[in-house]
Amino acid sequence: MNMIQQLTRHKTVEQLQAEAGSRGEFRRVLGVWQLTAIGIGAIIGVGIFVLAGQQAAVNAGPAVIVSFIVAGIGSACAALAYAEFSGMIPVTGSAYTYGYAVLGEFFAWVIGWDLILEYALIVAVVAIGWSGYVQALLLQLFGVHLPVWLQGAYDPANPDSGKVFDVVAAAISLVIAWMLIIKTEWGARVNTVIVVIKVIGVLLVIVVGAFYVNPANWHPFVPAAIEVDGVSRFGWAGVLAASSIVFFACFGYDTLTTAAEEARNPQRDLPRAVLLSLAISMTLYIAVSLVLTGMVPYPQLNSAAPVDAAFKALGLDWVRGIINVAAVAGLASVVFAFMLGAARIWFALSRDGLLPGWFARVHPRHGTPHRPTAILGIFSALVAGFLPIGEVAELVNIGTLSAFIVICLSVLILRVRRPDVRRSFRSPMLWLVAPVGMLFSLFLIIGWPWLTDGQFHMIGGLARITIERFVVWMAIGLVVYFAYGIRHSLLARRD
Ligand code: ALA
Repeated sequence: MNMIQQLTRHKTVEQLQAEAGSRGEFRRVLGVWQLTAIGIGAIIGVGIFVLAGQQAAVNAGPAVIVSFIVAGIGSACAALAYAEFSGMIPVTGSAYTYGYAVLGEFFAWVIGWDLILEYALIVAVVAIGWSGYVQALLLQLFGVHLPVWLQGAYDPANPDSGKVFDVVAAAISLVIAWMLIIKTEWGARVNTVIVVIKVIGVLLVIVVGAFYVNPANWHPFVPAAIEVDGVSRFGWAGVLAASSIVFFACFGYDTLTTAAEEARNPQRDLPRAVLLSLAISMTLYIAVSLVLTGMVPYPQLNSAAPVDAAFKALGLDWVRGIINVAAVAGLASVVFAFMLGAARIWFALSRDGLLPGWFARVHPRHGTPHRPTAILGIFSALVAGFLPIGEVAELVNIGTLSAFIVICLSVLILRVRRPDVRRSFRSPMLWLVAPVGMLFSLFLIIGWPWLTDGQFHMIGGLARITIERFVVWMAIGLVVYFAYGIRHSLLARRD
């Protein structure tokens, strides 16, 4: 077998469909609304509760709503691609599995490696956001202040804050890892309850907040560009830079495909649930962004818990309490979902032989993949403790956007290569949707070409350091694959 054949060996769609059908480990109990609840549970989180307000305050002003729309378009295109895949290959494993079917082992590895980092860092970001709301709640209910140095990570953008380590964020990462190791079932029913609480919290923000909107706060809609400590903020460049960050709010539906093997009618319901969960979440985001930026002048949203800050500024303490409780419960479920996802992907890579099988050995008593989970818990805790939320969110976004590019490309390739496979959902206008999804994802990473005075230049996009950190992670992934996975993969051993 030559090198190209090695890198492109793949599982066929039929193989994956048969694997899914034959395993039968799970009971098929989930309907379209429960699946949608799983999607919403992972989509609505820190993006809207924290990043929307912060980005309005530092980059976009009231035009953060435009940032959401731009990020949402990119995500919606990828959601259509995911929907087509999930109806065709209703198997757990998400983008990693789809990559294995279409592009072969090498790209599957690249996606899997990318997803482990991405999911682990999502845990860290959401843990940091959770910490902000827990601290707001502690303060409101009991008047408790943590020592400043334990309140949050050192932030170069705010060097005099005296903060060093976010102890609450680190603690939730460790506690949830431990819960997963001892096999605490969150379960679809508990998940649905938490999602309902979270959505009620978001609706309360919209409905109550709407009464306190002062339209004067929406002017100027796009604040004029300024330079703060050598960094340019606001203006259209700021709005597009914010879209690369609030993009964090616009994904998570991929986690519902991990429940593929528990769905009653996966081929029909998975695509619907992917699209429904994103559509509902985006509608709520747009309303929340409008209301928040209308309630208070946008600079006041620069807080670890911006929704709390807005209601506090208007003296609405009773609503604050409810919203903070909804945020704390809702964000904890996001941490749970992604920690589980990260451990499952790591487990799948090890089971397929791309990482040492030692990681895939389950705990003798609890039957859980305890090794990956413990390592991920400690890693996320350290990242959440020491790094500011914005930096970690950027790293997550570059990982997700890269996976979106691969997914959009894969769905196109499969249309050409395997037109015969039955698709329970066919994305409309795929030849437009997939390229737009790829282009949006690319521009959200590197910035947007912009014409000023007859000259093209790039505006927005992610920080250079984020792109460099991502390249280093992927380079390490290549070394691991060529030093280990290429020879130990199950497919290699079968050939
Ligand atoms: N979309 C999820 C959130 O905003 C990851 O927390």
